[in-house]
Amino acid sequence: MESLISLVNKLQRACTALGDHGEGSTLPTLWDSLPVIAVVGGQSSGKSSVLESVVGKDFLPRGSGIVTRRPLVLQLHRIDGQGEYAEFMHLKDKKFTDFGNSSTHLLIFCFALVRQEIADETDRATGRTKQISSVPIYLSIYSPNGKNILTICLLSCLLLLLYNISTVYVEKMLKSCWFSPTSPELHLVNLTLVDLPGLTKVAVEGQPDSIVQDIENMVRSFIEKPNCIILAISPANQDLATSDAIKISREVDPKGERTFGVLTKIDLMDKGTDAVDILEGRSYRLPNPWIGVVNRSQQDINKNVDMISARLREREYFANTPQYKHLAQNMGSEHLAKMLSKHLESVIKSRIPGLQSLITKTTAELETELHRLGKPISAEAGGKLYTIMEICRMFDGIYKEHLDGARPGGEKI
Ligand code: GDP
Ligand code: NA
Ligand code: MG
Repeated sequence: MESLISLVNKLQRACTALGDHGEGSTLPTLWDSLPVIAVVGGQSSGKSSVLESVVGKDFLPRGSGIVTRRPLVLQLHRIDGQGEYAEFMHLKDKKFTDFGNSSTHLLIFCFALVRQEIADETDRATGRTKQISSVPIYLSIYSPNGKNILTICLLSCLLLLLYNISTVYVEKMLKSCWFSPTSPELHLVNLTLVDLPGLTKVAVEGQPDSIVQDIENMVRSFIEKPNCIILAISPANQDLATSDAIKISREVDPKGERTFGVLTKIDLMDKGTDAVDILEGRSYRLPNPWIGVVNRSQQDINKNVDMISARLREREYFANTPQYKHLAQNMGSEHLAKMLSKHLESVIKSRIPGLQSLITKTTAELETELHRLGKPISAEAGGKLYTIMEICRMFDGIYKEHLDGARPGGEKI
């Protein structure tokens, strides 16, 4: 089972390697149909902070002003074995690792270096300016420990698609994972998340006049894709009617089906006001429930307040603030992460027929392509095609082993 999971990871990775560089291949369509989560909103609304909370790790540059100046495409992977590490696509040889030592100190150190590299790589494209670049930075984080809802879910779907196994079996697999009492509260998902520069209204010193439109176009290019789940971030200390997040997400997702309204900075609201109307969906209705969060303040960031204490404090905030007490169960970063996992599960399930034809088509196209090119192929493109083919073959082999192993146990597949 574990090897199957890591194979699915490899497949995802291979698809990314192929998919996001527009090499004229037809393969990216496979990757395109897998869900991606992107954060959108005005500058300093808390996008990077929310993304970090969903992931459960401190690794993003945050702060006032335009800090995020290139899209960051983050892929989370669950791996077998021990030790967590991060890797950039532009720095393939370097593993940002805790060296197998689980001491929190080293882990923080590791992610501080990741954050520094994001900042440096941003500067490499834009100079140390306030300019932006639409060229994404690709970052992967590999975390140990296998049972992960998204992997299992994706895997189940692949099994279902490729081998027409019974949906009952898939349901069983999903349930056993989803409700597992051992799984951590936060489901670290095998998934792609995108941090984006904030929408602005005016160009500031050092920025070209076109920057407002440039950022908007860049953001739109990510969130207009139907597989993109939008975290629309609005700060509670500004009027919702002025929310850039709501404005642009409504444009690309008028029904709001793939939009989640996230209200940040609830702790910073004017005294005597509260966010209850928004959180209960009366101010702006969205099909998915609104979620309020309290991220770390700039002072917390400066003082290196860690994620766990921040979460604890957030939970206490909602539980102990009279206005929000009744909503506490459905508020906060952890709840947001859980809701996203659930949503993803249903999205993936609903996409099954679509994915099926895609996978079949992709495999067929690969075969044709290989045929046309002849083998052996030394060119890089050929190599990549082979990688995918190999993975498909391995997947096939291991699945059959899995089947054989499962039969004596009486599991009906
Ligand atoms: P981004 O520009 O949208 O990515 O926003 P950041 O995540 O970089 O946050 C901008 C600033 O707002 C940082 O100084 C954060 O510490 C602060 N901030 C974000 N969310 C909250 C929140 O919920 N409460 C408080 N007090 N500060 C927040
Ligand atoms: Na900011
Ligand atoms: Mg940011």
